Amino acid sequence: MNGPKKDYSYCMSKNILVSVAWPYASGSRHLGHIGGAYLPADIFARYNRMIGNNVIMVSGSDVHGTPITVRADDEGVEPIEIVNRYHAEFLSYWEKLNIQWDNYTTTMTDNHKEVTQEMFLKIKENGFIEKNKSIQAFDPKENKFLPDRYVEGECPKCNYLEARGDQCDSCGITLDPEELINPKSKINGNPAEFKETEHYFLKLSALNDKLADWLNTKKGWRPHVINFSKSFVDEGLQDRAITRDLDWGIEIPDNELGDGKKIYVWFEAVIGYLSASKEWAVNNGTPEAWKDFWLDENAESYYFVGKDNVPFHAIIWPAMLLAYGDLNLPTNVPANQYILIKGEKASASRGVGKTLNDYLDEWNPDSLRYSLASILPEQNDSEISEDEMIRRNNEELVAAWGNLVQRVFSQYINNFDDLDTTFEYEKIDVDVLEGAKTCFKTTGEMIEKVELKSSLQNVMAYVNSINAYLNETEPWKVIKTDRKRASGILHCAITAIDACATMFTPFMPTTSQIVSDAIQKDDQNNWGINEIKKGAPLKNIGHLFKKFD
Ligand code: MF3
Ligand code: ZN
Repeated sequence: MNGPKKDYSYCMSKNILVSVAWPYASGSRHLGHIGGAYLPADIFARYNRMIGNNVIMVSGSDVHGTPITVRADDEGVEPIEIVNRYHAEFLSYWEKLNIQWDNYTTTMTDNHKEVTQEMFLKIKENGFIEKNKSIQAFDPKENKFLPDRYVEGECPKCNYLEARGDQCDSCGITLDPEELINPKSKINGNPAEFKETEHYFLKLSALNDKLADWLNTKKGWRPHVINFSKSFVDEGLQDRAITRDLDWGIEIPDNELGDGKKIYVWFEAVIGYLSASKEWAVNNGTPEAWKDFWLDENAESYYFVGKDNVPFHAIIWPAMLLAYGDLNLPTNVPANQYILIKGEKASASRGVGKTLNDYLDEWNPDSLRYSLASILPEQNDSEISEDEMIRRNNEELVAAWGNLVQRVFSQYINNFDDLDTTFEYEKIDVDVLEGAKTCFKTTGEMIEKVELKSSLQNVMAYVNSINAYLNETEPWKVIKTDRKRASGILHCAITAIDACATMFTPFMPTTSQIVSDAIQKDDQNNWGINEIKKGAPLKNIGHLFKKFD
């Protein structure tokens, strides 16, 4: 019998935009951010590239807004110093973790400014941006307005005491400073006063019905995302100010409000998905290619964000796109819940947990990617502790996958001169490879639905079944009496290992490539079983992963 032939064929390649939340360049990131957005996006994008889709994955450092200026004030430096420091740090994360961007940029490029201003003007021309007087928090001592994070107070919805003027970290709602109970100035802790000022507003109220209709067409979104978004819209959207009393930010493209006001960071940061796509197209030497992702009605777009970003990606950005016209709205917003470290939300601003650099120094990137991917908080907040990550590394990655590769490779290499390539597969071998075929199909389907944690478990379950197959067939014993049969078992096991390496590639790109490169094959499928060359030598790759004590 022969092994199964090519099992998966893809007819049409799709254009897929993978959009990932823009991290504020205001502080180090931590594991919660990586598991929340960057790693899942990278897994999804890598898989889609592998199966032949046309993918761009874009994001960049979010350089404006009060997170940056509050930090700069605290340190007594200019905002640009903060931004440059953290942007450089973020770039080092992507490199160390193997996050494969098509464009990772910043919101301080001329391109971003132009795209933002153009979008602002067109939405205004379309009647969805209007000037209005509003009441804003004001610090009389400092004689200045207190936008967003310059105010803290009690959340009007969940009564969390440390809600910020832009958002409540506890229940996730977006806020305006005047909605806070007992608002205080963050500069000096004094109660905030309120004064009238003029701003531009995005007329979300006029987009309410269109948004509700659009959300109703959405199928397969995570329950927590769709439920939150629908109830947000059902409560009736309020028009929101999209300018702020700040010097640090993108200039409003008209002069009607006078000096000292800038575009609100959230209004422009989400536009980054579009501006970064345009920038990618220019850098790529194909300036029109962004249209494949934004104008092609069969293109798909996935927004990988943490749950605190859901309102901006599932409601406000779609509202802006509707107000602008023509551009594609999100296909899905597979937002993750929080990663909890000892019960507290991992958060850069509140400083729970080790820094990412600590982990990057101590961990092999693929081990870290594996441990994090196996606990992705896709449906619920998920606890993680270092003990649990170490357990995943030692008991799953090292003991199951690393050990499988190790024992089959060493059997094959040590007995290489005795191998006999005239073997035929038995039923048990064919069954193992049938299992690989099924695993390719189910894993791919799960990744396409952005069920990444399950998809990884699915591959790991297949690894365990190969280990069980070896325990049953015992090639290390058989080799002493029946070289032909032992050769067949090892060939089958290597074929299955090679399949696992393919399926693990989106999750653990570096080590999977090492395994795959060590195995000689007659063909190379994107996402399917390969014909392994009979009687060819295997490269000795040693141990792939390290056990932690
Ligand atoms: N900078 C924001 C944060 O860290 C996320 C912005 S996502 C964007 O929460 F799309 F708006 F850029
Ligand atoms: Zn709240």
